[in-house]
Amino acid sequence: MEKIVSLCKRRGFIYPGSEIYGGLTGTWDYGPLGTLLKNNLKNLWWKEMVQLRSDIVGVDAAIMMNPKAWEASGHVEAFTDPLVECKVCHQRFRADKEDEIKKHGKIHGDKEDWTNPQKFNLLVKAYLGIIEEKQQELYLRGEITNGAQVNFKNIVDSTRVKIPFGIAQIGKAFRNEITPGNFTFRSREFEQMEVQFYVKPEAKEADKWFEYWKKNRMDFYLALGIKKENLRFREHEDNERAHYAKKAVDIEYNAPFGWSEFMGIHNRGDFDLRRHQEYSGVDLSYKDKLANESFIPWDIETSAGVDRSILFLLVDAYTQDGERTVLKLNPKLAPYKVAVFPLLANKEELVSQARKIYEDLRQDMMVAWDERGNIGKRYFAQDEAGTPFCITVDFQTLEDKTVTVRDRDSAKQERVNIEDLQKNILEKID
Ligand code: GAP
Repeated sequence: MEKIVSLCKRRGFIYPGSEIYGGLTGTWDYGPLGTLLKNNLKNLWWKEMVQLRSDIVGVDAAIMMNPKAWEASGHVEAFTDPLVECKVCHQRFRADKEDEIKKHGKIHGDKEDWTNPQKFNLLVKAYLGIIEEKQQELYLRGEITNGAQVNFKNIVDSTRVKIPFGIAQIGKAFRNEITPGNFTFRSREFEQMEVQFYVKPEAKEADKWFEYWKKNRMDFYLALGIKKENLRFREHEDNERAHYAKKAVDIEYNAPFGWSEFMGIHNRGDFDLRRHQEYSGVDLSYKDKLANESFIPWDIETSAGVDRSILFLLVDAYTQDGERTVLKLNPKLAPYKVAVFPLLANKEELVSQARKIYEDLRQDMMVAWDERGNIGKRYFAQDEAGTPFCITVDFQTLEDKTVTVRDRDSAKQERVNIEDLQKNILEKID
């Protein structure tokens, strides 16, 4: 993990949040490369979930919601973690983190003393309004789900969706995590990618779609190149399921800190829509005109953390190859698809030819430019950034209009005609 954290800072993937002020625990800022990587992941997810499907539509709901929505969804009452407090130094720990509690207890030796577990609500409060005494207390969303659920009726009324159908959303969520840590794994501000998939309220139908989404999500991460042996399913025990879930299965990743939750597939039944109907007084039933039926559908949810996906993609791609550190990211995810170098920075003919190639290629993809130091150092930097291909303009280029294209993973080079370059690279990164 130390190597990943250090590479992320060094190359501009992820920095500690508000670092120059000493940071803010549980927050992270994505740098130039991290932002590109994150956008690539979110775009791929959106393409697969919305663009290529006719049964899922997207929303982008407000982060701030009427606080009643959080009462209805059960978060005000039940979105809690059990917490114990060290009576000696008042540090707090999640009661289920036995190893951390044991480790901390040893610091105080004979004086070790703990409070009984208490429930601690994870919703982050905010205050809205310009007159202090009249400010409205609300919550930053603890999961992005509610924004989709409260728009169920709007979507049914304003689009042509028919059950079964899904609502997709990507956005920020906030949690007062007691013990943020393991880099971005447990943050207080993070991003989620979710689909709420509404099906007929029948156990058999729900089970069918639950299995479908389990496989669909596993296939997504395998197709991105995560090693099969590092992924597994784990079903939640009865006592660990969230308050809304009838059934929950996580996809876990074999992280350097142990098998850890990557994303979840949940059967939320009719919990959310029924509660929102009850608390809002608005009829949220679905009318199937053909079958002449009316029902509140069940929701099969897939919920993935963007930040956890990025972290595990980085961990999985990190490779030490002799002296070289290589991020073997899927080219579709790589922040830069190619880097272009003139062999020598002080030879005008090389620089202007390389500059032309750079300008042409960047019309279609993110392209890096480097003319500092020697070529070896430039390759080294691009390997760490996960750039799949490096193009070098050398003296032969001036004679025969070819350049070298070097492959990140094998370090092999081939000569390609400049006029074929665009096509050659586009084929390789698709
Ligand atoms: N809507 C369902 C839901 O929010 P969850 O299991 O609490 O379920 C879903 O969260 C996913 O969101 C997790 O699998 C994880 O990827 C991500 N996630 C949850 N809490 C997180 C945190 N504190 N920091 C980073 N990611 C988090």
